[in-house]
Amino acid sequence: MQRFVITEGDEPVSEILIGRGLIPEMARYLPQREDRRQVAILAQPTVLPLADAVVASLLEQDLDVSVIPLPDGEAAKTLSIVEDIALDLNRLGLTRADTIFGIGGGAATDTAGFVAATYLRGIECVLAPTTLLGAVDAAVGGKTGVNVGGKNLVGVFRHPARVLIDIDVLEALPMVLLRQGTAEALKTGFVGDPDLVELYREHGIDAPLEEVVGRAIGVKARVVSEDFREGGLRAVLNYGHTAGHAVEVAAGISHGEAVAIGMVAAGVVGEQTVGFDRRAEQEQLIASLGLPTRSPDVDLGEIERLMLLDKKRDTGGIRFVVLEDFGVPRVVHPDDATVRASLHAIGID
Ligand code: GLY
Repeated sequence: MQRFVITEGDEPVSEILIGRGLIPEMARYLPQREDRRQVAILAQPTVLPLADAVVASLLEQDLDVSVIPLPDGEAAKTLSIVEDIALDLNRLGLTRADTIFGIGGGAATDTAGFVAATYLRGIECVLAPTTLLGAVDAAVGGKTGVNVGGKNLVGVFRHPARVLIDIDVLEALPMVLLRQGTAEALKTGFVGDPDLVELYREHGIDAPLEEVVGRAIGVKARVVSEDFREGGLRAVLNYGHTAGHAVEVAAGISHGEAVAIGMVAAGVVGEQTVGFDRRAEQEQLIASLGLPTRSPDVDLGEIERLMLLDKKRDTGGIRFVVLEDFGVPRVVHPDDATVRASLHAIGID
């Protein structure tokens, strides 16, 4: 079992456990507390069988357990779903001593985290991400939220008390989900752990997940412990997201694929601003993992408009995270010609 702790100041605020066979023995891994009476499990349809295993484990501890199904994917991330869940929790009589347990992909854990942060002004949250993307990114680090017009426009920063990652579950993922998570895991390697980049170079998409997840979370826990509310350092976790997010919205592709394409664009910005000379190597690695390196057909004007929307939220102009080297990230504000060149490199003209 691997264990990581996220701290705020010197205080431990969130614990992440990575192991095998965690789901069927979930009760053992809840934070120890005497006063807990109920656990409400929020679960996506595709993981209801796993949720049943969690229920069985919790019932052995004489806890009252309910399962509240969530819609699949982003359809879970709406304020009206949050309202429905809050009404259910109230009907069940969940108190501040009780626990929300979110299980599923990133959309499920984002929603569960937001519900737990806001119901009764905050109750304990435990998350079990069941996708690689959720395990290495969405469920870890306390960014919760729902979509209101824009993606994650309404949300709060609040850590889950515990995140439980069952490697057996991740190993059973279909290739398409494995690849999407691989983009975020590789991103974490690029900004914070060259050994993780090396692991992918050596093993490709078959890199052992225990090590991938442990290394990615090692980076994330370190960054988030230093800068929980994204005042500075945490921005490096957005490597590949500036162009990636615009392509995700404009082309309607998955977040993981968009981040892969966005990292190619960020490589160009890095080359032109800080002289990053391993951009081709980076692009080859992304391609060798079966991830896209070029955008689907999208309109340049639309992409620029979407990037400008982000710009409004950052007073310094369009912000790119770039690499000076693998493991050495930096934030830059490139000029328009550099942004255009980076978009050209991913097939947007
Ligand atoms: N997904 C980036 C972060 O957690 O900050």
